[in-house]
Amino acid sequence: MQTQNPATPVPVAEPCFVPGQVWNDTNGEPINAHGGGLLYHEGVYYWYGEFKIAEPEGNKAQVGVSCYSSSNLYHWGNEGIALPVSEDPHHDLARGCILERPKVLFNRATGKFVMWFHLELLGEGYQSARVGIAVSDSPTGPFAFRESFRPDGAMSRDLTLFVDDDAAAYLFTASEDNRTLHISRLTDDYLQTSGEHTQAFPGRYMEAPAVFRHGGRYWFVGSGCTGWAPNAARSAVADRPFGPWEELDNPCVGPDAETTFSAQSTYVLPVAGRPDTFLFLADRWTPDNPIEGRYVWLPITFTEGRFQIPWRDTWDLNESR
Ligand code: GAL
Repeated sequence: MQTQNPATPVPVAEPCFVPGQVWNDTNGEPINAHGGGLLYHEGVYYWYGEFKIAEPEGNKAQVGVSCYSSSNLYHWGNEGIALPVSEDPHHDLARGCILERPKVLFNRATGKFVMWFHLELLGEGYQSARVGIAVSDSPTGPFAFRESFRPDGAMSRDLTLFVDDDAAAYLFTASEDNRTLHISRLTDDYLQTSGEHTQAFPGRYMEAPAVFRHGGRYWFVGSGCTGWAPNAARSAVADRPFGPWEELDNPCVGPDAETTFSAQSTYVLPVAGRPDTFLFLADRWTPDNPIEGRYVWLPITFTEGRFQIPWRDTWDLNESR
C-alpha cells in the first residue's frame, strides 16, 4: 500500500468583520440586535439590541431586547431575550410599544446590571418620549422592568449611556422634539437621573448619540435627524462630559461617507486590553422589512484633534490600530 504524503495544511480562515453583510450567530441565524449597545463584563462582551420581526410593524417591540455574547467580538452566541415585552396591554412594555436603542451598564456598588432604553408607549406614536429602566442580577437577564419616565422632566428619544473612569454615568439623549441633546448625570445606582443636567448642540437635531473617552478627552458621534433614512454623521469633542462640546466634521471617510455608509450610529466600543482601539457600531435600517437590517462595525482612527471612521470592506482587530 502506498503511503500518502503528509496532508497539506488546509488554510483556516481568520475571523474578520465584513461591514454591511449578513452576520450569523453561532447557530447560523442572522444576529437580531438592532440599535444596540455593548457591555464588557468579566472577559465577555454582551450585545443588547432591538429584536426585529419581518414585517412593517416589526420595528415596534413585538418580542423585546435580545442579548448575544462573545469572547472575541467575531463569534456571537444567542443568549435569548433579556427583556421581554408584556402581554398586558396596559403595561408600559405592552407588545407593540416602541422600544429602541437599549444600553446596559454594570453598577459595581450594587452588583446590578441596569438597562436604559428609549420607550414610546403603545399607541402614542413617538409622543411619549420616555426612557425605560430595567434591572438584572445577570448580564444575560432576565431584566425586570422598573419604570419609565421623562428624564429631568424632559422629552427623551434616541439615547446612549456613558460611564466615566470614576464610575459616574451619563445619559445623552435627543430632547426638545430632537432639537437639542440633553446630558444628565445618573444617580450612583444608575437607576435615575440625579438632577444634574445640561444641554448641548441647541437646534442641531442630533440623533443616534454615542460617546467615548480617549486621550483624556470625550468624543461624540451621532447623526442628523432623518428617521430611518441615513444622513452624514456628526462628531464633537469636549474636556468634560457636560461640555462645552465643540462640533467637528463628518468623521466618515470613503464611499458613501455622506450617508455614514448607509447607516446610523448606535455605539462606540472601547476594546478591552487595547487602549487605542475603538469600534464604531452602526445600523443599516430596512424599515419595510426591519429584520433585514444589517450592522456596520468599523475601527476608529485618531488624527490631530479629531477622529475618523474610514470604510473597510473587511478588517480584523489586528489591523485596527
Ligand atoms: C431614527 C432613530 C431610530 C428610530 C427612527 C424612527 O432617526 O435614530 O432609533 O427612532 O428614527 O423613525
